Amino acid sequence: MTKRISLTQHLIEQQRLHNKIPSELRLLIEVVGRACKSISHAVGKGALGEVLGSAGSENVQGEVQKKLDVISNEILLEANEWGGHLAGMASEEMETIHPIPNRYPKGEYLLMFDPLDGSSNIDVNVSIGTIFSVLKAPEGMTTPSEQDFLQPGTRQVAAGYAVYGPQTVLVLTTGDGVHCFTLDREMGAWVLTQRDMQIPEDTKEFAINASNARHWYPPVKRYVDEMLAGSTGPRGKDFNMRWIASMVADVHRILNRGGVFMYPADAREPDKPGKLRLMYEANPMAFIVEQAGGAATNGDQRILDIQPEKLHQRVAVFLGSKNEVERVTGYHKE
Ligand code: AHG
Ligand code: MN
Ligand code: MN
Repeated sequence: MTKRISLTQHLIEQQRLHNKIPSELRLLIEVVGRACKSISHAVGKGALGEVLGSAGSENVQGEVQKKLDVISNEILLEANEWGGHLAGMASEEMETIHPIPNRYPKGEYLLMFDPLDGSSNIDVNVSIGTIFSVLKAPEGMTTPSEQDFLQPGTRQVAAGYAVYGPQTVLVLTTGDGVHCFTLDREMGAWVLTQRDMQIPEDTKEFAINASNARHWYPPVKRYVDEMLAGSTGPRGKDFNMRWIASMVADVHRILNRGGVFMYPADAREPDKPGKLRLMYEANPMAFIVEQAGGAATNGDQRILDIQPEKLHQRVAVFLGSKNEVERVTGYHKE
């Protein structure tokens, strides 16, 4: 039997090899992993656990919250609050940051998350997930303000996502490649199943919500039209399209077999670029994708270089296979 490597063992080995993962960070990642197991469990219960449907509330972006958005947010908050490894948290589902209450010891990290990504897929039993990003709090800062979270993605020390699909997987980077763990549901353990995931530089697959085509700006329209023209068009090859409407699931496909994922800004709301949020969706995914040899831009610049101005700010996203991301970014610059 091949030897199974658990998440804990993997992190300890990385720490010994590269001295890159301080034990506080390892603890943090393991706690997030544990919270994802709980979320996976709740997701798996579905109607039997009475977790489907709307929570009857709205989040700060004006989106109706699903019960599982709220449950997942609570699971992540409760799991991470008391361990002493964090100074604060922020979430898609909370308007303001969540400093660690004074009754608990404080740590030096900041955790941001999209507790449940792909909310529109919850009730129809399609893959959904959790996305998270870890930053360091400014030196000695134990009661952070929102300003302390507004660091560019290049400062992330870890990022990851879980997919709750046919299998539950956890994909993780600490700046040393991208590794995938599969949840052994009987044992309740994360087992290393893919080391050093690499995104092919070229692809014949793209992901975009084409129902927005009439609102796209010219560079996106040109790029997609050229792919749709297929083997007799300027690209000289046929492309295939996939859109799951859960970024976690689309990105997971791209990490496994390549592709380009786009959620562009469009002409509808010029001051709200795109739909995805920089701090807890685009930045962690951009970190993961770059660590796997891919690229991630907003059409103009590398996502990881963007200086955030607001916790919930939106950003246009082009990510995945390097040559395609460079091409569509180039069309924006022409
Ligand atoms: P969330 O469920 O956290 O709000 O995020 C959903 C996001 C992303 O996961 C997905 O790619 C996109 O919204 C889907 O958008 P459309 O409904 O416009 O296809
Ligand atoms: Mn999301
Ligand atoms: Mn969400």
